Amino acid sequence: MKLVRFGVSIEEGLLKKFDRLLHKQKYNNRSEALRDMIRAALVKEEWSMEVRIAGGIAYVYDHHQRQLVNKLLDVQHSFHDIIVSSQHVHLDHDNCIEIVMVKGLAKKVSDLFYQLKAIKGIKHIDIIKSTTGKILE
Ligand code: NI
Repeated sequence: MKLVRFGVSIEEGLLKKFDRLLHKQKYNNRSEALRDMIRAALVKEEWSMEVRIAGGIAYVYDHHQRQLVNKLLDVQHSFHDIIVSSQHVHLDHDNCIEIVMVKGLAKKVSDLFYQLKAIKGIKHIDIIKSTTGKILE
């Protein structure tokens, strides 16, 4: 792909803070960091639109709560068309973590996230908002 150079005007103090951040995040140069930030902004924008995205949802729960396990399965089955895969790991005697990979309309993936989040007994839940990659081509 063709690379284009452009100039950026920025307050000195802000640039110093930016450089400290880049050092912490192991960037070798500002261009690479800026490209990543632009890609992140594009993906964030993509999630607010009605387009197909890809991502993941991870949650931790106590499997002894039988009702909770049934509810989880019910919710997963009602979103079978966007769930690509799921992985279950037994963390200890009580706790399980599940990671569900999703691909589909952003709105539907968000619906799934909120329905899982609303289940009583979920100890922690988080979402990875990634992309199918098309927006970055
Ligand atoms: Ni388990």
